[in-house]
Amino acid sequence: MPQGIPEEIIDEIRQRTDLVGLIGEYLKLERRGKNMVGLCPFHTEKTPSFTVSPEKQLFHCFGCGASGNVFSLVMQMEKLTFPEAARFLARRSGVTIPEPKTGSPAEDNLKEKIYKLNFLASRFYAYCLCKTDSGKTALEYLQKRGIEQKIIELFMLGYAPADWTGFFNFARKKGISADLLVKAGLVSPGREKGYYDRFRNRVMFPIFNISGKVAGFGGRALEEGEKSGPKYLNSPETPVYEKSSLLYGLNLAREEIRREKKAVIMEGYTDVITAFQAGIKNVVASMGTALTVEQGRLLRFQAETVITAYDSDSAGEAATWRGLAILQSTGCLVQVADLPEGSDPDSYIRENGADSFIDLVNNSRPLMEYRLQQLKKRFDLASDKGRIKYVEELMPFLLSAVNQVEQDFYLRKAAEELGVDEDALRRELKKRRKRGSRFQDAQKNEQPEREEKIMIGSAEKMLLSLMFQSKEIAEIGRNHLRIEYIDDPRIRKVIEALWNSVAVESFVSTEKLLNQFEDPQIINLITEAVSDPALQDLPAQTTKRMVKDCISRLHHIWGKKEQRELDKRRKEREASGSEEDINELLREQQQLIADKDGWPDRSGKGGDFSG
Ligand code: CTP
Ligand code: MN
Repeated sequence: MPQGIPEEIIDEIRQRTDLVGLIGEYLKLERRGKNMVGLCPFHTEKTPSFTVSPEKQLFHCFGCGASGNVFSLVMQMEKLTFPEAARFLARRSGVTIPEPKTGSPAEDNLKEKIYKLNFLASRFYAYCLCKTDSGKTALEYLQKRGIEQKIIELFMLGYAPADWTGFFNFARKKGISADLLVKAGLVSPGREKGYYDRFRNRVMFPIFNISGKVAGFGGRALEEGEKSGPKYLNSPETPVYEKSSLLYGLNLAREEIRREKKAVIMEGYTDVITAFQAGIKNVVASMGTALTVEQGRLLRFQAETVITAYDSDSAGEAATWRGLAILQSTGCLVQVADLPEGSDPDSYIRENGADSFIDLVNNSRPLMEYRLQQLKKRFDLASDKGRIKYVEELMPFLLSAVNQVEQDFYLRKAAEELGVDEDALRRELKKRRKRGSRFQDAQKNEQPEREEKIMIGSAEKMLLSLMFQSKEIAEIGRNHLRIEYIDDPRIRKVIEALWNSVAVESFVSTEKLLNQFEDPQIINLITEAVSDPALQDLPAQTTKRMVKDCISRLHHIWGKKEQRELDKRRKEREASGSEEDINELLREQQQLIADKDGWPDRSGKGGDFSG
C-alpha cells in the first residue's frame, strides 16, 4: 500500500484526475476506437504506440512497455516517488491529504520527534563549528581540506564538542527528554549514572533522507589514531536512520540526476562534498557499505544509468560486486569508472580537477565488461590453473547478466579471451545454472523472484485480458479455471486478486488492483492485459467463446503435464515394484483421461453460458 496516505484519499485523487486530460498536458493524443494513442514520452518512436484507455484510466506503450495509471504516469514523467506523485495530483485536483501516517500514531509521532531533534542537533553542531572557539580546529581542518564556507553550509556540516555532555546539556535545557535523546542515538546512558554524548570531538555530517530531513549523522575523528576511536562514527539504527536505505547527498543531487538521467555513486561523505563543490552535482554516497535493493530503488526512478566511482581498493571486493549486481537487478544500467590505485573521488578531483574526473566518468564501462577485464588482469590465462580460476569466477557473473543478450555477448568475449569453444563455456554455464551458484543464491535472498521476467503463454495472456474486461467474464474464469493451470506464481497472484475483487465489487476495478502490487513486472502484466487492442469491442458471444477456448486449452496443457508426471512416477514405482501404488496411479491416470477434453467446472452449478 502507498506509504502513509489513506486508501480513501488515493481513491479520491484517482477519481478526480482524468488520465486523458493529464496526459494531454504532456503530449498530443488521438482517438483510435475506444482508446487514445500518441507518441510515447518514455522512448523515441515515429509511429504512436502509446495507448490510453479513457474507460479504464490506464496507459500502456506497446513499444517500450511503460504502463500504469495516473499515479505511475506522474511518477515516471516527473520522476517522483509514489507519495510525492499522490501529493502532486492531490494539489492538481484539490484534494487535501491528511498528515502522513506510516505506522501507529505513536510510532509516527516518535519518528517526527526524532527528525525534529536531529535537525536541532545539526543546528547545534553547525553553531559549534562556525561560531565557537572549540570548533576552531575542526573548521581549520575542513578549510585545509579545501571545503568552502558555502559548501559547509549547504551540507550543514558541524562540530561535536569534545566535552562529554555538551549536546546533552543543551538539549535538556530545551526541554528534550533523555529518553528521546537516547532513542535518536545522540546520547548514551552512562555505565553507572547519567548520560553522555555519542559524538565527541568530531566533524559532523548530517545524513539526509531523500526529502531533506536529517535522518542521522556521520562523525569524523579529527585525527586518525587509536585514541580518537574509529575514523567515522555513525548514528546507530533508529526509527528514522536505516543506513541500508539511505544514500548520502541524494536530497541535493536529485534534480541534477533527473536532468542527466545519470547518477554517480561514490563511497564517502567527502567524495560527494568535493564533487559537489567542483560542480559535479549528480553524485551520492553509499557510505562505505555494499549497495542494497532499497538504495537501488531510490535511484531507479531518478536515473537510467548509475556509474560507480569507488576507491580502487574496494572495487575488487566481493561485497562490492554483489552490491553492483543488486543495483543492476533493480533496473539501473550499471557502469564502472576506473579510479587509479590509491585515490578516491575526493583526492582525485583535488589532484586532477573536475574535468579530468568527468572524463573518467564518461569513460566508464558496463559492469560486465569491467569485470571481464579485471579477471583477465588477475589470472594468468596462459596457465591451466589460471584459466580454471578465471572460469570459476566468471560463471556467477555471467549468471547475473541482465538478459540473455548480455550473457551471450560476454560469454563469447570470454571464450575468445580463453581461446576455447563458446559451446564448452555454455555447457559449463548450464551446469552451474542447474546447481545454482552461491552467488546467485545470495543474490536471490535479497532480490526475490520479483524482478525476473514473467513468462506468459498466449492462452494465459488472452484469458487474462478477457477476464479484465468485465465482472461477468472474470466470474466465468473463477468458476472454470483451476489456479494450478497457471505456472507463474505472479500471474496466479494477479488472477486471484482479480477474482477476490469481483467477489466484492460490482465491476472490475483495475486501478484498485494495480495499487495492490509494487512489482513493476506485475503492473506491466496487468496494464498490458487490459490494453490489448485486439480484444477490445468484441461481441459478448465471441468473448465468451474465447474465454472457454482459453480455459480448455490451459486445462489441456495442464492435463498433459500431469500425465507426464504420472507416467514418470509410474515408471519409478514399477522399477521399485509396489503393486498397490501402481494401481492407485493408474486410477488417477484414468480420471485424468476422462476429463481431459471436458470443460472443467468448479462452480458446482453447471456451465453458465451457452457459447
Ligand atoms: N565509513 C563509515 N565508518 C567507518 C569508515 C567508513 O561509515 N568506520 C563510511 C563513511 O561514509 C565514509 C565512507 O565509508 O565516508 C568511505 O570511507 P573512507 O574511504 O575510509 O573515508 P573517506 O570518505 O575517504 O573519508 P576521508 O577522506 O575523510 O578519509
Ligand atoms: Mn577520502
